Amino acid sequence: MVNLINFAYLVASVLFILGLKGLTHPRTAVRGNMLGALGMLLAIGVTLLDQQILSFEYILIGVVIGGLVGAAFALRIPMTSMPELVAVFNGFGGGASVLVASAALVEHGAPSHQFTISSAVSGLIGAVTFWGSIVAFFKLMEVLKGIFQFPGQQFINGLLTLACLGMGAWLVLDPGSLDPFWIMVAIASLLGLMLVLPIGGADMPVVIAFLNSCSGLAAAATGFVLDNNVLIIAGSLVGASGLILTQIMCKAMNRSLGNVFFGGVGAETAPGASDDEVYAGKIKSTSADEVAMLFDTARRVVIVPGYGMAVAQAQHAVRDLAGLLEERGVEVEYAIHPVAGRMPGHMNVLLAEAEVSYDKLVEMDLINPSFQQTDVALIIGANDVVNPLARDADSGPIAGMPILDVDKSRTVVVIKRSLSPGFAGIPNPLFAADNSLMYFGSAKEAVLDLVAAVKEG
Ligand code: TAP
Repeated sequence: MVNLINFAYLVASVLFILGLKGLTHPRTAVRGNMLGALGMLLAIGVTLLDQQILSFEYILIGVVIGGLVGAAFALRIPMTSMPELVAVFNGFGGGASVLVASAALVEHGAPSHQFTISSAVSGLIGAVTFWGSIVAFFKLMEVLKGIFQFPGQQFINGLLTLACLGMGAWLVLDPGSLDPFWIMVAIASLLGLMLVLPIGGADMPVVIAFLNSCSGLAAAATGFVLDNNVLIIAGSLVGASGLILTQIMCKAMNRSLGNVFFGGVGAETAPGASDDEVYAGKIKSTSADEVAMLFDTARRVVIVPGYGMAVAQAQHAVRDLAGLLEERGVEVEYAIHPVAGRMPGHMNVLLAEAEVSYDKLVEMDLINPSFQQTDVALIIGANDVVNPLARDADSGPIAGMPILDVDKSRTVVVIKRSLSPGFAGIPNPLFAADNSLMYFGSAKEAVLDLVAAVKEG
């Protein structure tokens, strides 16, 4: 029986890995997701057969409540709020690890070093993840605004970490008492709050990815507590993939992880130029008819989608516009910045939903050299990812972040409703550049008007 169960766990793990592999490309992502879900179903089903379960009642109640809450979230949550949802799920993952480790300690005491060490690791990482994720959630919801910093914060965080490790060591060396475990969980909870409270602004997505990785590590440690192979493997996969995503995002935002957590960046830093200084007297607005005329003579157009396209749900209109231009012999590509929108792959998902061919989506590094040969760069609700300050400024929330070099195109047309800033909260000199035209309006209506104007032209 044990061999059979472990074999089923092995199959589930292979399905997880194939699922992750599928998720690396939009074309295979849906299949990847299904494979991962199938693996999880198999793992759960087999686990229910494995353990000496006394009663299925609580399990059934949990499955029903959890299933309903999960389905309600998945159906109702707008795509733009996905990071908040991921933050909550990470937090629940960490919280669940703490609860399982606590229950196992209370039930079994401390039968072995493996058991106490993994319980301590699970309690520590799980508590940090839970409270850190709660703060991240409220920050993304903008319920918690501002940056909470005080002198000596990093020193205190260091002390808290040492205290957690000390309590963990005490638990391992003196397994007779569970007090060190409870104290460690309390200190780790404070540490989770203290670590994420000072982080704000543009760095929050990196924090979410990192907490995702932590929730996986906590689950893997819980796998050692329960002696459950599939939990160890699944937790490690989440831990590793979360860490890889964290690294990709750090690179895309030009931050090191240490800098994100301890640099106080993402916090709105040195005061930059005011809106008036950047924009006054330099903004040229345009209309659908004028932009349609620009398209008449264009041979290459690059569309740059951003958060505003997601808010306005303009992706279908954008696809229609691109189709129309292509019918007239214009070469059209989409420039995809790794952190455009509010979640990794946000633009890919929206454009895939509108059935834009994957070959037309070109990543930042590949498309950047081609802007010089681009007649019109059409920015649709993007802001930070095309802000030249990222290249030119020495400090500020996006300094050093790689951007799409749209300003090198012959003409830049920006569709947005006003001169309001993007996520990072800073003005964008691109809007005032000589070759930029502002086409003010909500993205969907603006693009639909553009489609009509191109058809009339
Ligand atoms: P942002 O810099 O956030 O700018 C979005 C712009 O969209 C705003 O300036 C807004 O201007 C405009 N907008 C909003 N609603 C609109 C509508 N209905 N129609 C037209 N425009 C609309 O977006 P971005 O360039 O995509 O950059 C993403 C930012 O989010 C980066 O700073 C990134 O670090 C951060 N971030 C990314 C992620 C991930 S993983 N992708 C997660 C969290 C945060 P108006 O109000 O004037 O219209």
